Amino acid sequence: MSAAEHEFVIAIDGPAASGKSSTAKRVAERLGIHHADSGALYRAATVARLTLDGAPEQWTPESVLSAAERVTMPRHDASFEVRLDDSPLGRELHEAAVTMLVSLVAKMQPVRSWVNGQMRRCAREGAIVVDGRDMGTAVFPAAQLKIFLVASPRERARRRLLQRLDRTPLDEEIAAETEALTQRDAKDAAQIQQAPDAVVIDTTHLTQEEQVERIVEMAVRARVSR
Ligand code: CDP
Repeated sequence: MSAAEHEFVIAIDGPAASGKSSTAKRVAERLGIHHADSGALYRAATVARLTLDGAPEQWTPESVLSAAERVTMPRHDASFEVRLDDSPLGRELHEAAVTMLVSLVAKMQPVRSWVNGQMRRCAREGAIVVDGRDMGTAVFPAAQLKIFLVASPRERARRRLLQRLDRTPLDEEIAAETEALTQRDAKDAAQIQQAPDAVVIDTTHLTQEEQVERIVEMAVRARVSR
């Protein structure tokens, strides 16, 4: 896609639980532009396929793609909302079975093409923040601003648990989640792509508002200097 085909794209990529989606959402709010989460589409395709059967050895790219036909991503306020059979998906996207199987689904090339097509459609509707693994490389190589978020595995695990449990996680819970995240990163290794022109932000010692602020400042400069 050439730069002219989309108005303004901020691509935020990074490994599992690096804070991409929550950061992307806040950056979009601050700038008054849209947000679309590619990971939510991979998760929704997994949810859709799981409603047919939970036997992943039988999951072919064709059967996942056919299940994904029930998934849509219309605009809802400032975000693109992921729906299954026209009902919004929320917590279902983060159920353990979905998180366990999503990397398998994300390896399927026809599914990747479907997600990429959906993301490009969203970007044609106006300025947007997109997040995922390959937004700044495979999907929007001409994005005006590319960010690659990283944080230590233990800090990523701690934040994900805090979000999920809504209480301070125990040490052994953090250790188990660190292991799970590291395994998912290994499964996703081929998909996690850092663009050579991406700005790397290590958020291990940053608050969410600090990282949002840095990206907003860069976005304002990128927009002005276009
Ligand atoms: O939020 P978290 O980092 O846990 O994951 P996510 O962004 O919701 O993405 C879920 C899964 O989708 C990842 O583990 C990848 O397998 C896949 N994914 C991908 O392959 N490419 C993307 N652009 C986004 C997600």
